[in-house]
Parts: sequence; C-alpha cells; structure tokens
Amino acid sequence: MRTLIRGGTVVTATGSSAADVLIDGETVAALLDPAHTGSFAGLADRSIDATGKYVIPGGIDVHTHLDMPFGGTFSADDFETGTRAAAWGGTTSLVDFAVQPKGGSLRETLDTWHAKAGGKASIDYGFHMIVSDVSEQSLKEMDILVGEGVTSFKMFMAYPGVFYATDGEILQAMQRAASSGATIMMHAENGIAIDVLVAQALASGHTDPGWHGRTRPPELEAEATARAIRLAQVTGAPLYIVHLSARQALEAVTQARDEGRNVFAETCPQYLYLSQDDLDAPEFEGSKYVCSPPVRPKDHWAHLWRGLRTNDLSIVSTDHCPFCFKEQKEMGRGDFSKIPNGMPGIEHRVDLLHQGVVDGELSLARWVEVNSTTPARMFGLYPRKGTIAPGSDADIVVYDPALRHVLSADTHHMAVDYSAYEGREVQGGAAVVMSRGEILVSDGRWHGQAGRGKFLPRGECQYLR
Ligand code: URP
Ligand code: ZN
Ligand code: ZN
Repeated sequence: MRTLIRGGTVVTATGSSAADVLIDGETVAALLDPAHTGSFAGLADRSIDATGKYVIPGGIDVHTHLDMPFGGTFSADDFETGTRAAAWGGTTSLVDFAVQPKGGSLRETLDTWHAKAGGKASIDYGFHMIVSDVSEQSLKEMDILVGEGVTSFKMFMAYPGVFYATDGEILQAMQRAASSGATIMMHAENGIAIDVLVAQALASGHTDPGWHGRTRPPELEAEATARAIRLAQVTGAPLYIVHLSARQALEAVTQARDEGRNVFAETCPQYLYLSQDDLDAPEFEGSKYVCSPPVRPKDHWAHLWRGLRTNDLSIVSTDHCPFCFKEQKEMGRGDFSKIPNGMPGIEHRVDLLHQGVVDGELSLARWVEVNSTTPARMFGLYPRKGTIAPGSDADIVVYDPALRHVLSADTHHMAVDYSAYEGREVQGGAAVVMSRGEILVSDGRWHGQAGRGKFLPRGECQYLR
C-alpha cells in the first residue's frame, strides 16, 4: 500500500517546509517537492489531503503507567484503552514502566509487562523498568534487560517502604547502568522528609487533598534532584529526572547541564497548566489532581516553559497514571496520603503542548522536538521514530492547527471518569493519525486494532557526551 500525503506543511525538529510525503508500506519513502509530486501521484494507492495542516512525526510519550498496580489498586487504563486514547490524541509510540515487585526478578517482571501489552496495544511501545529492590540478582538482570532493549531504569527517592531506594542502592544501580550504557531515571523527592511532614499534617487534622501539595514542598524535590545529580556524577551514569515540577529542581538541572553533565529532565502538562489551586478545590475534587511531585503554585509555570525553550527541560511526557474519581481517588477521603497518586493525560499531551505554540511559548519546530524527536533520541528509538525522513516508520499525524475543541470526560477516550482539564478549550487537534503507514484515526473515527502495536527494543540514549 502506497500513501501520498499532499498539500501540508511538514514540520520536524529542524523546521517547516511545504512538502508531500510518500509512504510505502510501513515506512516513509520520500519527501517530495509539491511542484513535482504530480509525476509520483500515479504511484500512490491512496491520497490524504493535508491542505492547511501540519504533517508531523507521531508523538512519543515516554512516561506512562498502563495497567499499573499502585496503592492497592490498578491504573484505570490498560494497554488497549490507553494506547487507543494516546492515538486519538496524536501519540503513536509510548514507553511504559514495568514495575519490579519487592523480591521479584526484573526478567520475570519484563515478561509480565510483555503479556499485559501483547494483544492489546494498538500503537508501538517500549518499556522502562522500575527497580524497587536492589539486590545482586536485580543488578545482574539490569544487564540482561539492556540486551533485550530495555535500556532505562527508574528509581525512587520517594515512597519509603514501597519503591524507595537508599542512596547506596541508587549508587550501585547507577554504577551498573554506567557500565552497560543504560540511563537511570529518577523520581526525585526526599521521601523520608516528606513522610514526616505528612504524618505531622495528618496528626494536626489536615486531611484534605491540598495538603498533599503542602507536605511535598519544592525544596524537597530540589534537594533530591541535586543529590541524584551528584550520585550520577560519581558513577558516570546518564541521569534523566522524571516529572520535574518545580523551579528549584529545574535550577539544579540547569546547573548540572551548564557543567556539561549527562543530566536530562522532562516535565508534564499538569505542571504547566495545573496548580495548588486545583489541589485545593472543595468537596474532595482536589483529589483529581493528586500526583507526585505535586502540581505547584502557578508562578512555577513560566520557569518550566523557559526550561523547555532552553532545553534544560528536554521532553514533555504525561506520567499518565489514571485513577477513577468515584472508586479509586475515594480511597483517600479523610486521609490525603491514601489518595492513589497519578492523573490522566495520555490523550491530551500533543494538544496541550500545541497550546504552548498558540500562546507563544514554543516554536513549531520545538513543539515537534519535545513531543517526538527528543523522546526518540533520548530513549534510543531514533531515526526509526521521531522524524519524517526516508526509511523512518510512517508514524505521522496530520494536525489541524485551526481545530478548536473542549477537553472533557464526556468526549475523551481514556477509561477514567474525569478529565483533569474539564471544560478547557484548546486550539489544534489530530485530524489523521498513522502508525507504520496504517490509518488509526481519520474523519473522527477509529480504524485501529488492538494488538497491532509492536514492542520496540531500544538502544542507548543518543545525547551522551
Ligand atoms: O503520582 C504519580 N506520579 N504517579 C505515578 C507514579 C510515579 O511516581 O511516576
Ligand atoms: Zn515518579
Ligand atoms: Zn510516573
């Protein structure tokens, strides 16, 4: 099957140009000068009209939690509903977190996550591995996983008793990563100090969701970020700070990058658009916005947008970890520390970031870079993914910059009963979404199939100095 996408503006991380895209089977065959496309038109079996639209590489969300056990429940989207919702929003690949249970083997955990995704995912997917139990065995298994295309390992400085790792354990895992070419991803919050603040708040009768934010202050994110950076420096491991939320943590990352270190960071739409005011919403509504690190006061937003422009923040991922308001967030009524941490967003990342273009925060090329190209290069998927070039997978979104739509639980495709952005109007939306040359979404209809998504073995981070 040959497809021609005609009349659009191709936007990549390096800029925009009027070009037509010829797709042959699963990959891009050529970018054509529209003046000469006529002579190729007969080659195509079908043509997609992209007049007035952007033609961009499909989004890559490198931080999702589908079908993830957390706090006695599971995230509400599995690989079928989550990947479908992602595709509706213009995301055509994701990298999800497999979670090592305490005492469990990394190798067996990877098999469990392969089983969760296989037969269900409609877009391509890779895995990071959460290392929650550092032992001789799991350190050895890290090397095995790298050989199987799992080249990044997440560790936690938060959640004592659950995922928390000591500095010594982190150091050992970083040494292992340094020797095998893997990246350490860090949840950087000082969980030991936070747990004291949480206990004190609860003892004083502060049980509402707003206290989730107040007991996880930015300084404890900044302290852990700086500590992780120094541990990485000692070991030589590349470090990727996940879900960075606070100005003070960004300062630590900026300093490390100015020192020339292999330190990278992502933020998420919730930290660019939501705030402590949302956590303070009455009637337990604030629980909808409970995630860690917490959404911050609004004055952090401008610093994060600046970080995205200067590349001190390289990627925007979602940290999609949805829990239903009615049955799951409810577990923390009367005790904010029992509210399952996480919020939905897999479907809206591309549009919310495009809003940054509309608002003058990001250029078009930078939008594509943080949405697709850098995620691909950071996690060893480029140039198969993350660009539109001959030989690349034809993961392509025809994006209508003029489309206006309102985000709502009534219309979204995520299997969760609320939207963190309920009623927010955004400008821009995916009109056609293709994965490896196959149309998943067009004309407002779903054409994809559960199980067509393929596992993506990944290489090393492509930014290492
Ligand atoms: O609150 C969050 N972020 N939930 C998902 C787990 C994690 O720490 O990324
Ligand atoms: Zn985390
Ligand atoms: Zn996460």
